[in-house]
Amino acid sequence: MRVEESRREVEVTSGHDATTPRAPHRATCETQVEASLRRGTSASLGGHPDHAAPPTAHPHEAPARHTIAASSPRLVTVRRGSCYAPRAMAFGRGKVILLGEHGVVYGHPALAAGLGVGVHATARVSESQDDVIVARPWGVTARVGSDEPLALGLQAILEGMPSDRQSVHVEVDVDLPGGAGLGCSAAIGVAVTGALDALFSIERTDEERGDYSLRWERVFHGNPSGVDNAMAAVGGVALFRRGQPLQTVRAKKPLPLVIAHSGESSSTKEIVAMVARQREAETQRVDEAFEAIAALVNNAKLAVEAGDLKALGQLFDLNQMLLAGLMLSTEKIEELCRVAREEGALGAKLTGAGAGGCMIALAKDEADAERIREALAKRSPLTLVAMAGA
Ligand code: MEV
Repeated sequence: MRVEESRREVEVTSGHDATTPRAPHRATCETQVEASLRRGTSASLGGHPDHAAPPTAHPHEAPARHTIAASSPRLVTVRRGSCYAPRAMAFGRGKVILLGEHGVVYGHPALAAGLGVGVHATARVSESQDDVIVARPWGVTARVGSDEPLALGLQAILEGMPSDRQSVHVEVDVDLPGGAGLGCSAAIGVAVTGALDALFSIERTDEERGDYSLRWERVFHGNPSGVDNAMAAVGGVALFRRGQPLQTVRAKKPLPLVIAHSGESSSTKEIVAMVARQREAETQRVDEAFEAIAALVNNAKLAVEAGDLKALGQLFDLNQMLLAGLMLSTEKIEELCRVAREEGALGAKLTGAGAGGCMIALAKDEADAERIREALAKRSPLTLVAMAGA
C-alpha cells in the first residue's frame, strides 16, 4: 500500500487470516508499558497515530498513516523489569459495497469487498474501576455509564462478555473517514470486539465476531443489515444476505476500483431511515427497485467469478440509476461518476448509504485506475485505488 496526501492505494483483502487468540497471562503488576505495541506486527507506513485526522469531523482530510494487512486478535505480554502487562490487539477492516446497498437492509443480497485499511484496537485491564474507551484521532475519552455514544457502544459489547471480568481500557486508532460509506463504525466495533476477545480468551471465528459486533453497530445505526460488520471481520469479496452465512466470491481477475470521496458526509442511520419512509409511502415502487437491484447483484457475482469487468461495470451503472431513483445520489456523486466514465471507467456508482460519502468506479486495469483516480483527485478531497479480490 502506498500512501500520499490525496493519492492513496490500498490493499483490498483477499480473505481472512484467523488464528486462535492465546490465553491471556494475568497482569502481575499495574505498570503501564507504553512500548510500541499498539501496531503489533502490522507494517506501519510512518506517521504518528495521534496525527490522524478526526474522520467524522473532517471526512476529506486524509488520515496521516495507514497500515497494511489485517491482523487477527492477539495478545502480547510486555515485560518491564519483573512485571508483565498483557495488551490485546485486533483490526477491523473498512469495506466498499460493490452493489446492493439499502436493498440488503430488507433481506436482498449485496456484493462487497473488504479494504486493507481500517481500525486498530488495543485493550488492557484498567487500573481504575471504570471501563474506558479512547478514540485517539478524535481525542475522545468515554467512560461506560455516560451517554457518550462510544461508551454506549463499548457497554453493548461488554454486556456479552464474562460477568466476572476486570475493568478494561480500550484504545482505537481509526484510519477511515467516518460518514463516507466505507464502514468506519463497523470496523471500530469489530476491532474492539476482537481486542476484548483476545484479552478475555474468548474464541470466535471471524464471522462470529462480525455478528457479535452488531451490538456496537446498533448503537450507531439503528437497523444495520450486518454487511459492514461481516466485511469488517472477514474481508475478501463476498455476497452477503441478512441472516445467512457470508458467501465468499472468488474473483477470476482482480477488480481495479477507484474510490473517491464526494466531500459530503452522510449519516447511514438517517439515510436508511429516509429510505424506510419512502418505502412506507410507496412500498411497491421501492420494493421493485430493490428487486431490480437484487437481480443486478446476482449477475454481478457471476461477472466477478467470470472476470467479466465490462459486464460488471455496466451493472455498476444500472445500480447507480436505481439508487439515484431512490434519491440517494447527489450532484457531486453524479459529477464524479461522469468524470470517471469519461476517463474510461467501465462503470461508476455511489457506495454505502449514499446522499454523500464515497463513490466507486471500476477500471479496466490498475494503470487505468490510477489515471481515473488522478482525474477524480482534481474534484475530490480523498481518492484511493484498491485492487479487490487480488
Ligand atoms: C451501509 O454501508 C449499507 C446500507 O445498506 C445499510 C446497511 O446495510 O446496514 C445502506
